[in-house]
Parts: sequence; C-alpha cells; structure tokens
Amino acid sequence: MTNDFAHHPVDPTSAASLAASGFQYDLVDTTDRAAFEAWFQADSRGFHGPAMSKEQIDSGFAGITYRRTVGVWDDRLVAPEVPVATVSSWTEQVTVPGNRSIDAWAISSVTVSPTHRRRGIARALLEGELRSAVDMGLPMATLTVSESTIYGRFGFGQAVFAADLTIDTTRATIPVRERRGVLQHVAPSVFVAEAPTVFERIRLSTPGQINVWPLRWEQIAGTAPGDEEYTKNTRVVRFDDEDGTPRGFVVYRVTGGGLDFTNHKLTVDYLLAETPEAYEALWRYVLEVDLVREVKAELRSVDEPLLWLLSDMRAARVSPIDHLWLRILDVPASLNARSYSSAGMIAFEVSDELGFANGRYVLETDDQGMPTASRVENLPEGVPAVSLSVNELSSLYLGGVSASSLIAAGRIGELNPGAGAAIERIFHSPTTPWLSVWF
Ligand SMILES: CC(C)(COP(=O)(O)OP(=O)(O)OC[C@H]1O[C@@H](n2cnc3c(N)ncnc32)[C@H](O)[C@@H]1OP(=O)(O)O)[C@@H](O)C(=O)NCCC(=O)NCCS
Repeated sequence: MTNDFAHHPVDPTSAASLAASGFQYDLVDTTDRAAFEAWFQADSRGFHGPAMSKEQIDSGFAGITYRRTVGVWDDRLVAPEVPVATVSSWTEQVTVPGNRSIDAWAISSVTVSPTHRRRGIARALLEGELRSAVDMGLPMATLTVSESTIYGRFGFGQAVFAADLTIDTTRATIPVRERRGVLQHVAPSVFVAEAPTVFERIRLSTPGQINVWPLRWEQIAGTAPGDEEYTKNTRVVRFDDEDGTPRGFVVYRVTGGGLDFTNHKLTVDYLLAETPEAYEALWRYVLEVDLVREVKAELRSVDEPLLWLLSDMRAARVSPIDHLWLRILDVPASLNARSYSSAGMIAFEVSDELGFANGRYVLETDDQGMPTASRVENLPEGVPAVSLSVNELSSLYLGGVSASSLIAAGRIGELNPGAGAAIERIFHSPTTPWLSVWF
C-alpha cells in the first residue's frame, strides 16, 4: 500500500480554529512508538474499548501506521501527550459499477474525549479531513459509522447497506444438487495467507467493496492480538474446487449450548466465496453443523443469494442497516469513474453546505454505459434534471439506492417530469452494492 498521503500536513483552517480554542492539531509521528501508543490508547478509549495491551500496540504499530494519523492535544492536561481527539485516514479503492474502482479518502478512528465533547472538535476534524482530501485531488471521502446521525451534516450519504442474518437451522436446508469440491478445516493463519488472494480476484465485481488491509484479515481470523475469547473460538473451513484451488472460506465460532447440548449458536464472522459452488458449499456446511440451533451472520449483502438457496426462505430473518457512507467532493471526477446501465442524459443541480460540490452538472452516457460528466453554467433545456444535495447524490452514486424512494421522501426534487425514472435507469447497478468489512 502506498502511503504518500500519510504525511500530508493538517488543514490550516481547522488548525487555526482549534488553536483559537487552545488546542493543538497535528500529525502524529508514527515512527515514534510512544506517540503512536498515546494516540492508539485515546482512540480505543474513545470507542469505549479496553486499555490496549503491549501486543495490541505492537500489532497496531505494525499494521495501521501507514495511515495519516492525526490528533488534537490540550497542553493544559496532566497527561498532555495523550490526544483529546483522534482521526486516521488513507486512500482506499472503492469498487464502482463496471468492474473498476475509484480512489477515495477513507476516514476512521474519529473520536473526541468525553471531557472535550461538543466544543466543535469533531467538526474541525471532519472539515479538515475533507479539505485535505480535496487538496490531495481525491474525488470522494468515505466512512463507516457508529451512529447514523453524525455525518449527514458533513455531506455524507448512506450508499451501501448491509444485513444481519439470523437463521433458524431447524427450518433452514439447502437442497443438495451436486456435491463437488472439497471442504476442510484449515488453521486461521491459512485464511490470513490465502483469503486476500481470493478476495482480490472478486473485489471489482461488487460495488462498495474496498481493498482490505492485512491487519483486518488477521482480526477476522483471530490471529491479531486483542480478543482472546474470539481467537480461542475461531474456526476456519476452506472450499477447494475440483482442481484443488481454494475458492472460498468461512470463518466462524460456535458458542453457547448449555445443558441442552443441541442449542449452540454459530456465528459467521466472514464468508468469502469466489464461485457459486463455493458459496453454496460453505453455506450448506454452516447450516448443517450438528448441535447448532441458530446461525448468525453480520454484515452480509442485503441481496444475499442464500435466501434463494433455502428451501424455506422464512428460516432467515434479515435486518438491514446503513453501512458505507460516501461523500462526493468532485462531482465530474466521481461520475466519470463508474459505468452506467444505459445510454441517456441527466442534469443535476447540486447543493453542498460546505461548498465542494455546489453547482450544475450534466452526465451523458453512451450505449456501453461510458460517461462524460461536466460542470455547466445553466441546466440544458429538455434534459431530465433533478435538484438534490450532495448527500443524496452520494447515496445514489453506487446504484444501490432508489431515486424514486428519495423523491417520494422529498429528498430529491424533480425539475421536470420523468427525471427520477431517468436516474433510476441510468444509475442502477446490476450487482447490489455490498461492503463486507468495517473500517
Ligand atoms: C461523535 C463525536 C466524535 C463528536 O465529537 P464532538 O467534538 O463532541 O462533536 P462536535 O462538537 O464537533 O459536533 C459537531 C456536530 O455534530 C453533532 N454531534 C456531535 N456528536 C453527535 C452525535 N453523537 N450524534 C449526533 N450529532 C452529533 C453536534 O451537535 C454538532 O452539530 P452542528 O455542528 O451541526 O451544530 C464524539 O462524541 C465521540 O468521540 N463519540 C464516541 C466515538 C464515536 O462514536 N465516533 C464516531 C465514529 S464513526
């Protein structure tokens, strides 16, 4: 992973506003272990996590210091070296429709100490991140969120949803068609070594997926230090096709049981499948493990094919939640980065309280769905047009959010009849967007 962005200086406007309140806003020197440790402990405390152990700090030091690591300090405190606010960010590739990706600014570790809350520190950090991203020429910012009420004010919109599945194994069966390939238990370290290669082969086929960093694979496999209970219980099963090539993995834990030994719960922590055979074999495996009453899987696609494999679809309860939020910063660059479902022309009047995306734009797509998007002075006559804020444009961007729903909710205004249907037709993604990790 390249880290040219990691040393990009903090935004001077936010530095000035925080300095006016007596705070220092700066990059953390991530070659300095003590400075990183103070930042890392503050980040964990901000999310109500435990004090980080030496092993966790070593792992973070090796695994996430490639990022641009930013803190806010208050030198009036007894421990002035511990930041009162944290954020980290890096360039990531977000898959967009058309088997391609867009470079985006990933923002994570946003915390403000409860002792310093509601004094505008998070606002300064977020606006600073967005201005820095623009400075670096990035067309878009992204994040996953702890609360869905925080980021709309900064122009982010929900673009990818994820589903939690709860499956009653007494009702859930997948009819056997043909069993091919081989299932086997492998060590979690095998998942860490091989899953990234399998994932990379399919990453560009699902809009919303990102390039996952190595420490995240270790956390999924339970090989990273931190949660001993998780590590102890994690099992991994791999599916190899008939040629012996690994095509998928399921990482899971079986817990509970109690006196009634048939009452265990199986939690799917990650299921990766490159082929339909791998997908079916791994889900069937999970549903057929003996002594398990319930299977839980978080962060699955809201259009999970599993539901259509089950002989009784009602065996699974599905609860969707917003997951990936996007924030377009450069409208033409973002629109030009993806391909579209049909030929046409559509115009947008975009409002953006922070000013980055304000303006009028036209998107024209050809028969192959290839775009030409540009800023215009005036909306062209006779072209379907909508007015919307940058939040809604960001929500629509990956083609997984329905323009007609946003129109019905009063979040998009049609400037001429049929504009919503035109967006729907042009923006629609044949593959439902999905992001399988947090960041
Ligand atoms: C969320 C958090 C970062 C906010 O920090 P903060 O410095 O208190 O926020 P600010 O004072 O800068 O507030 C910025 C704006 O967000 C709003 N806001 C702050 N926290 C909010 C919350 N939890 N829910 C909804 N709105 C919130 C403020 O009202 C303010 O609105 P305005 O500027 O439009 O008037 C902080 O409370 C925190 O660290 N929480 C725990 C960790 C967390 O959830 N982080 C987010 C990770 S995705």
